[in-house]
Amino acid sequence: MIIINPIAWVALFVAHIVSTATLRCRVERGDKNRTFVNCCRLHLTSLPALDFYDATSLDFSFNSLSLLHGSSFSRLTQLLHLDVSHNDLQTLVQQSFQGLQELRSLDLSSNNLNALPSLIFVDVTNLELLKLDHNNLKTLEKDVFQGLTHLRHLDLGHNYLQVLHNDTFSHLPHLTWLGIGSNLLEKLEAGAMTGLNNLINLDLSHNQLSLISSVFPPRVFASLGKLQVLRLEQNDDSQMGEYPENVFNNLVSLTSLTIDTFVEVHFGQDFAALRNIHTLDLSENCKFGHLANNSLEGFKNSSLTFLHFQGCPLNDIELCAFCELPSLKWLWLISHHWLTPNKVLESLYGLQFQNMSEILLSYVGDHLPFLHVIDSHSARFLRNICVSRVSMVNSALQRLAGNAVTVRNTPFMNCIEHVDLSQNSLEGDISTFFKLINSKGPLRTLSLQDQWKFSIGEAQCLASEDFNCKKHLVNSFNHLSTYVFNTPPNLTYLNISSLFPHVNPLPANVTFPSATKLEALDMSYLGMANCYFTWYGLENVKTLGLNGNYCYNISETMFDFMDSLKQLGLSNLGISPDFFLSRGWRLFQNLDRLETLDLSRNNLRFADPEMLRAQTRLNKLDFSYNRFQTVPVNVENNCDLKVLDLSHNFLTTLTSSEQSALDSLAGRHTFSLKLLGNPLECACYNLDMVEWLWHTSVLLDGEGREANYTCTTESGEITSTERVMAHWMRHWRRCLGCQIFGIALSAFLLQILSIVVVFVTARSWTQLCYAWKAVRRHRLPRRQHFRRDAYVVYSDAERDVILACVTLREVLEEQYSVRLLLRDRDDLPGSVRAENIVQHIDNSWKVLLLVTREFSKDEWACGFTVQQAQRSITDTMPDRVIVVFLEEPRVLPAMPSLQLLLRMVPESNILHVHGDTPPQHTA
Ligand SMILES: *[C@@H]1O[C@H](CO)[C@@H](O)[C@H](O)[C@H]1NC(C)=O
Ligand SMILES: *[C@@H]1O[C@H](CO)[C@@H](O)[C@H](O)[C@H]1NC(C)=O
Ligand SMILES: *[C@@H]1O[C@H](CO)[C@@H](O)[C@H](O)[C@H]1NC(C)=O
Ligand SMILES: *[C@@H]1O[C@H](CO)[C@@H](O)[C@H](O)[C@H]1NC(C)=O
Ligand SMILES: *[C@@H]1O[C@H](CO)[C@@H](O)[C@H](O)[C@H]1NC(C)=O
Ligand SMILES: *[C@@H]1O[C@H](CO)[C@@H](O)[C@H](O)[C@H]1NC(C)=O
Ligand SMILES: *[C@@H]1O[C@H](CO)[C@@H](O)[C@H](O)[C@H]1NC(C)=O
Repeated sequence: MIIINPIAWVALFVAHIVSTATLRCRVERGDKNRTFVNCCRLHLTSLPALDFYDATSLDFSFNSLSLLHGSSFSRLTQLLHLDVSHNDLQTLVQQSFQGLQELRSLDLSSNNLNALPSLIFVDVTNLELLKLDHNNLKTLEKDVFQGLTHLRHLDLGHNYLQVLHNDTFSHLPHLTWLGIGSNLLEKLEAGAMTGLNNLINLDLSHNQLSLISSVFPPRVFASLGKLQVLRLEQNDDSQMGEYPENVFNNLVSLTSLTIDTFVEVHFGQDFAALRNIHTLDLSENCKFGHLANNSLEGFKNSSLTFLHFQGCPLNDIELCAFCELPSLKWLWLISHHWLTPNKVLESLYGLQFQNMSEILLSYVGDHLPFLHVIDSHSARFLRNICVSRVSMVNSALQRLAGNAVTVRNTPFMNCIEHVDLSQNSLEGDISTFFKLINSKGPLRTLSLQDQWKFSIGEAQCLASEDFNCKKHLVNSFNHLSTYVFNTPPNLTYLNISSLFPHVNPLPANVTFPSATKLEALDMSYLGMANCYFTWYGLENVKTLGLNGNYCYNISETMFDFMDSLKQLGLSNLGISPDFFLSRGWRLFQNLDRLETLDLSRNNLRFADPEMLRAQTRLNKLDFSYNRFQTVPVNVENNCDLKVLDLSHNFLTTLTSSEQSALDSLAGRHTFSLKLLGNPLECACYNLDMVEWLWHTSVLLDGEGREANYTCTTESGEITSTERVMAHWMRHWRRCLGCQIFGIALSAFLLQILSIVVVFVTARSWTQLCYAWKAVRRHRLPRRQHFRRDAYVVYSDAERDVILACVTLREVLEEQYSVRLLLRDRDDLPGSVRAENIVQHIDNSWKVLLLVTREFSKDEWACGFTVQQAQRSITDTMPDRVIVVFLEEPRVLPAMPSLQLLLRMVPESNILHVHGDTPPQHTA
């Protein structure tokens, strides 16, 4: 029946269309009967049928809705939150929100609403939050917010409102937060704020409200007795003026005020009524030029705690400007580029003997054409303030006199915990730094880095990769004594990088006896002239920077007592290029907690592949800007490695074992490899690498696309891995062709060669044998290679001389034609004896020692000559020395060097001769 009924057909059709529209909304059910319907970003131009009656939250944001029909939502009685922001709504019709009695929040921001009809919100009486910001509202009807008795938060920011009329908000007794910032407000009517008795936060910033009585009528804030935060900044651009009277004195609960200033400002008696004031923020649109004794008069003896001046063109601060501000804890005087730091320090006069948290005097005086010196006089008031943090960053300081602040037992030294003097031009007297570093007080952090006083030449030297220029910084090495740095017991952070241009070589033992809490130490770019020392007492340091010093020689025990180290910077140190090959493992052996290691810019070529085996927690490894041709370390041990930087090295390819090691890291977690700036090749031998780049899950840093690197082909053509991949088949075929041709050619040549060899061998076997033997024999030194046959060594005693030079000579030379070398005959007069001995041994085939009692006493013969004779025994001439005992060895005194020699002389070369029989030994 139903199917043939045409009305039922139409009903089904409509239901289908509606359901396809609504189906696209995502419905989520939360706990406590909550249902969230999310229809955002669906390009909807009109509301679909809303049949989710149990929805508690409905989101239509980021669509193109231009109209909400009356009663659109009337059946969504459970709805608590409705978001129609970022649509094209231009107007709302009466009853748009009919039925939404439970609604708590309504977001209509970022539409094109021009006006709101009166009584538009009467149906949503339980609304607590209403957002109307970023619309085109120009005026607000008197009773537009009628009915919103529970509203707490109303945002009207970024509209075009010009005037706030009497009683606009008088129906909002519970409103606590009202934002009307960034409108075109020019005027507040006297009763504009009436009824806002519970308002806590009011934003009127970025309007055109001049700070004068006609714009701020007296008692305009009379009902804001509970207001705590008032933002009025970026309203009044005039240079001269005075704050309107009888306006601010009603804000008795105000804790925070942000307001524009004039060149001369007087916070007068009206402000004395702000009994709870905590923060005065003058940092936006600040025109303050002259801070006088009475500028802050209204805040004298108040609870003002935080005073924030930033970017004011201050040119003068009177001595007593900050007098009688007993509660002041934070004083920020930032970016007063044309005021000298000394002037600012003088203004601390009124804060003496107070306890403060922070005095920031950064970016002060940095536009003046001269540098500043802080001496004992200018810092005299600061010394009397007990303050926890002082910062004078980038304030063109040139010198801090030794007695400026570091006088013992001053309130300053007893309280100071954090000092930041970075980015100045400090030089010269460094005693202040040492007193700070050596103080026993509560100092926790000290930042002295980046004093821009390197000469250009030095800076270039340190940044360049030519390390030779650093050598001129090296003074004498000192390996003897101990250097003891006594640091404050609570110091956790010390940064002195590029504080000095040149630190003298440190001794071998550098001890920090009291640095038990030190966690970060940065000593980079100090021009440190050697690294041949060991740190003691830094067991808890987690971060150490030594970059940019001159460490050609690093002591391999340097880090032996730094077990907690996690981050280590060893970049740009001019380390000897093979240091890590032989001693890398030793240097790092105790750093098993290391997570980040920077070895970039060191000209390294080799490293011990196992040197980081112990660093199982290693996370980031930077080898960039070196000269490695392969992946320098075996990363298989470093399972946690996430970043390996090999950019700007000399890698031409990645071997397949390297590829699989990197793949296995990428299999564990995201792992990225940096390879840019390497002379990669795309040749036949490494086509697999190109393919690997394309398919690996390692994150790469190629150009344009991850795996796209410049590479060179065999023929020297510059291409990119992307192009090689694009023409993969062509490359592959060409390479395969080359390979097959190569194999065929080698096989052919090998065949020809074997035929020749077989032919030659067969024809002249005998000659070859002889030739071989000749070659063998030729290798050994033979008698004819020496000028004399034997060098005779004998003592100076007359009996021995006669024996050698007469008896022996006659027998051997005349009867046997043995050519002897005899000291007394052949030495040239005046020649050096030691030299002669060495030469004679070299020139003789044999060395003949005539051992007698006198011989044993002769230093030359028995000492030096015997040692030389021993050295002359080699593998090729094992029987070079002949020892002739002319007396019974037992009766001779002990001769240690001869004993040594005898162990090397073959038994047949040791002769015992008694009587006058000359030895007869020819070989
Ligand atoms: C959920 O709704 C049902 C009926 O609508 C009601 O009985 C129940 O109390 C609700 N639960 C909560 C947590 O509100
Ligand atoms: C606004 O209200 C004040 C009193 O609160 C009244 O003096 C003033 O005339 C009113 N302004 C207008 C435009 O109605
Ligand atoms: C602030 O207090 C001091 C001492 O309590 C007093 O001498 C001074 O007059 C007070 N200043 C003001 C402006 O009330
Ligand atoms: C500001 O106060 C100091 C200290 O009370 C005083 O010496 C100085 O003269 C005052 N400056 C002016 C301009 O009144
Ligand atoms: C170091 O810190 C501890 C705890 O914060 C503190 O009790 C101690 O007084 C501090 N030492 C110095 C010398 O200030
Ligand atoms: C280094 O110096 C400190 C302090 O003088 C001393 O305690 C330590 O034993 C020295 N270490 C070595 C290895 O000389
Ligand atoms: C690949 O790199 C080359 C240079 O190495 C570059 O010219 C080319 O545009 C890159 N390709 C892509 C898709 O970015």
